[in-house]
Amino acid sequence: MPSVVKINVLTVPQEMRQELERRFAGRAGMVESSDGFEWFELLRPVEGTDRYLVYTRWRSEEDFQRWQQSQAFQAGHAQAQGHGHGHGQGHGHDQGPAATASELWSFEVIETATPTP
Ligand code: HEM
Repeated sequence: MPSVVKINVLTVPQEMRQELERRFAGRAGMVESSDGFEWFELLRPVEGTDRYLVYTRWRSEEDFQRWQQSQAFQAGHAQAQGHGHGHGQGHGHDQGPAATASELWSFEVIETATPTP
């Protein structure tokens, strides 16, 4: 069975970019120990798009689904879920999500390469 790639695509206003990156830098770090987790990258847009990509790779769809329903996911998204009140747009200290929209993309890995040692 091929691994699956799940990419969360985040629309982030210019003035919230730093805040988003700061939140990821201080992220819960619990995804690493989730069963079936294989890879994570936060990708900052440079050209061709202005959306951030949260790239994750999993052993299987089931492993991803399990993580999404887990405590670890909830903990890692406490702020993103908007527990605070998103008053005062444009300020980095709000508790609400830094992203104004998100979209989940799903892929199956059909080929992989790594550098020869
Ligand atoms: C409602 C949609 C979502 C938004 C707005 C969002 C945004 C964020 C933000 C801002 C963080 C940094 C942590 C924090 O703010 O406390 C975070 C963490 C993370 N997000 Fe999301 N996210 C969403 C859903 C997802 C989904 C569906 C995935 C699956 C690809 C994902 C993957 C991750 C990962 C791997 C982390 C790091 C968690 C850890 O270290 O344990 N997110 N997300």
